[in-house]
Amino acid sequence: MNRTLLPLAALLLLSGVSVIAVSQRPWLPRSDVVQPVPFSHRVHAGINKIPCEYCHEYARRSDNAGVPPIARCVGCHGSGTTGGIEPVTRAWNDHRQPPFEIRWNRVYTLPDFVRFTHRPHIHAGVACQHCHGPVETMDRVVPVVEINMGFCVECHTQRQATLDCVACHH
Ligand code: HEC
Ligand code: HEC
Ligand code: HEC
Ligand code: HEC
Ligand code: HEC
Repeated sequence: MNRTLLPLAALLLLSGVSVIAVSQRPWLPRSDVVQPVPFSHRVHAGINKIPCEYCHEYARRSDNAGVPPIARCVGCHGSGTTGGIEPVTRAWNDHRQPPFEIRWNRVYTLPDFVRFTHRPHIHAGVACQHCHGPVETMDRVVPVVEINMGFCVECHTQRQATLDCVACHH
C-alpha cells in the first residue's frame, strides 16, 4: 500500500467529518435518523442478496429511487414465517388502498435549488455505493460520503458529464 495515500485519506475523511460537524446546512445527509421499523439493509441486501432495485425500483426510471411500499414487504413477510416482523395478514394481491404505510424518515436530502435525478446515473453505470457507500453492510443507513457540489462536479469533470450550472440548478 502507498504510505502517503493512507494518512492523506484519513486527513480528508477527518476534515470532511469536521465540515459536517460545524456546518449549518440543513440538507446534509443525517446520521441520526431513527426508523419506525428497524429495517436492516445488511440482512436484506447483504446476507440475503436482494438486489437494490428490487425495492428501489424507480431509480432506473425516474428522479427518485423511492422506498418500497409495504406491499413489497408483505410479498415476503406476509404468510407469517419469514423474518422477524409480525405477519401482515392482508393478501398480497389485494390492490385496495393499503390501510397504512410505514413512514420512513429521510436520510439523504438536497436543497431545493439543486436538481438531482437518479436515472442518468444508473444508466451510465454509476454504482449506488459510489454515492451511498456500502449500504449492504449497514443495519441502519448512514451517509459515508458528503454529497456536495464538489463531489458532483469532480465526477462530472472526470466522466465528461455536464458542468452547466442549470443542469443541476433551477
Ligand atoms: C428489501 C427491500 C430493500 C432492498 C433490497 C434495499 N433497500 Fe434501500 N431501503 C429500503 C427501505 C425500506 C428504506 C427506508 C428505511 C431506511 O432508510 O432504512 C431504504 C432506504 C435506503 C436509503 C436511504 C434513503 C433515504 O434517503 O432515506 C438508501 C440510500 C438505500 N436504501 C440504498 C439501497 C441500496 C444501495 C441497496 C442495495 C445495496 C438497497 N437500498 C437495497 C428497502 C430496501
Ligand atoms: C425478497 C424478500 C423480502 C422482502 C421484499 C423484504 N424482506 Fe424482510 N426479510 C427477508 C428475509 C429473507 C429476512 C431474514 C429472515 C431471517 O433471517 O430469519 C428478513 C428479515 C426481516 C426483519 C428481521 C431483521 C433482523 O434483524 O433479523 C425485518 C424487521 C424485516 N425483514 C422487515 C422488512 C420490511 C419492513 C420490508 C419492506 C420494506 C421487508 N422486510 C422486505 C426477506 C424480505
Ligand atoms: C450520483 C450519486 C447517486 C447514485 C449513483 C445513487 N444515488 Fe441515491 N441519492 C443520491 C442523492 C443526491 C439523493 C438525495 C436526492 C434528493 O434529495 O433529491 C439520493 C436519494 C436516494 C434515496 C432516497 C429516496 C429518493 O428517491 O430520493 C434512495 C432510496 C436512494 N437514493 C437509493 C439509491 C439506489 C438504490 C441507488 C442505485 C440503484 C442509488 N440511490 C444511486 C445520490 C445517488
Ligand atoms: C460518480 C460520477 C457522478 C457523480 C458523483 C454525479 N454524477 Fe451526475 N452524471 C454522471 C454521469 C456519467 C451522467 C450521465 C452523462 C450522460 O448521460 O451523458 C450524469 C448526469 C447527470 C445529470 C443529467 C444531465 C443532463 O444532461 O441532463 C444531472 C442533472 C446530474 N448528473 C446531476 C448530478 C448531481 C446534482 C450530482 C451530485 C449530487 C451528481 N450528478 C453526481 C456522473 C456523476
Ligand atoms: C453536477 C451538479 C452541479 C453543477 C454542474 C453545479 N452545481 Fe452548484 N451545487 C450542486 C450541489 C449538489 C449543491 C448543494 C450541495 C452543497 O454544495 O452544499 C450546489 C450548491 C451551489 C451553491 C450554494 C453553495 C453553498 O455552499 O451553499 C451555489 C452558489 C452554486 N451551487 C452555484 C453553482 C454555479 C454558479 C454553477 C455553474 C458554474 C454550479 N453551481 C454548477 C451541484 C452542482
